[in-house]
Amino acid sequence: MATLVAVGAQWGDEGKGKLVDWLAPRADLVVRFHGGNNAGHTLVVDGERTVLHVVPAGVLHPGTINLIGPGVVVDPAVLLGEIQALVARGVLRDPARVRVSGRAHVILPWHKALDLARERAAGAGAIGTTGRGIGPAYEDKVARRGIRVADLLAPEPLREQLERAADHKRPELAHLGCDALDVGAIWRQAVEWGRELEPFVDHTGRILDRALRDGRNVLFEGAQGTFLDVDHGTYPYVTSSNCVAGAACAGAGIGPTRIHRVLGISKAYTTRVGSGPFPSEETGELGEQLRRVGEEFGATTGRPRRCGWLDAVMLREAASVNGFTGLAINKLDVLAGVAELKIATAYRIDGKLTHEFPMTLSEIERAEPVYESHPGFSEDITRCRRKAELPGNARRYVERVEALAGVPVEILSVGADRDATIACEDPFRA
Ligand code: GDP
Ligand code: IMO
Ligand code: MG
Repeated sequence: MATLVAVGAQWGDEGKGKLVDWLAPRADLVVRFHGGNNAGHTLVVDGERTVLHVVPAGVLHPGTINLIGPGVVVDPAVLLGEIQALVARGVLRDPARVRVSGRAHVILPWHKALDLARERAAGAGAIGTTGRGIGPAYEDKVARRGIRVADLLAPEPLREQLERAADHKRPELAHLGCDALDVGAIWRQAVEWGRELEPFVDHTGRILDRALRDGRNVLFEGAQGTFLDVDHGTYPYVTSSNCVAGAACAGAGIGPTRIHRVLGISKAYTTRVGSGPFPSEETGELGEQLRRVGEEFGATTGRPRRCGWLDAVMLREAASVNGFTGLAINKLDVLAGVAELKIATAYRIDGKLTHEFPMTLSEIERAEPVYESHPGFSEDITRCRRKAELPGNARRYVERVEALAGVPVEILSVGADRDATIACEDPFRA
């Protein structure tokens, strides 16, 4: 039995979906444990692209069970749409391979309305959320007035729960100029969601526990990334859940003693979508080149991603808060043709040098990266399948990242396709 938690080491979109799909043949279960459909995880198999927002990225492999744990916030329409699309494509022949926790909280229409209206009202101070209602849904969960997936299965009590929840929302919605709520219509919709979701609703914690007792392999699929974590990220420019590896325990329902390995996933450079500090951001030509070659546009919102150099200060911090046992470096192919490769190794804040990620937002905002330079490579590396096949400069760049992060590189990704992957170590070994 082996368990592996795969999490983003940066600000999301590191290529978690690609790697989870690549790792999934060795897993019996793939588990989402936090976040919601703010995630957009892209899988490419023989050129065919699948973008998943809620269903775990193990789903393309017929041998996997895909669990959506209680720590996830679920937009029922999005989950049902995703399941239906996978069934229609013939990918999900046995729908029982997708299970959602009855304890997962539901994203309701007013959560989305509030998310969008608050962002509009914030103007230049907006966080740049995905507008999917994630923050408002987690707020209601923590305030103990949320509605859970299992509640959708009991229409009569649900009506009352919705009425109460709506009473709470009306003043803010009115203040923000949103349309009045039609609770009856929302209730009818929610009952319909419940009917359609019922075959997928389960006690996922129990499924997981049984699997672990039976010696199965489990892969936990992180969403977002370490620096979007509500506690460890660039607060308040973060998402509303814990994204770090530790969240897999609470969000899926297992003890920390059952986690064997933690894979940190990073791009060979850095990107960010939405507002907030980004010390190694490149707003000029290099940023443009990375965006163009790396096709850096959001998988959920289509927004252009901000791009910049790899930041080893962040990688070290991520290794520390997640306990990485291995690293995956993705999109190495995108750096081909960049003559000089830079890595941020420290920051200068008000003239003072630091090698550690700062504690406060204002320090992060003032951080000026200190770079070291490495010669680039110009070869197309998308067909390399062994590390030894990489050009010397690409290999040396990877080895330098490994040394700076203090974590062994276990996987290199050299293209979006599942096969464009170089395994250096088996991250799934027990
Ligand atoms: P996730 O949210 O971490 O799953 O990442 P996204 O799917 O949002 O964004 C990663 C993007 O990079 C997707 O378009 C992937 O298809 C693509 N991708 C992943 N790995 C590689 C790689 O090694 N090289 C290239 N060129 N593209 C990649
Ligand atoms: P995956 O799983 C990149 C960002 C948003 C915004 C902030 C808060 O695909 O890596 P939210 O809607 O969560 O309240 O937005 O977090 N964000 C992501 N950025 N990848 C993601 O997911 C993200 N999910 C949220 O852009 O800055
Ligand atoms: Mg993404």
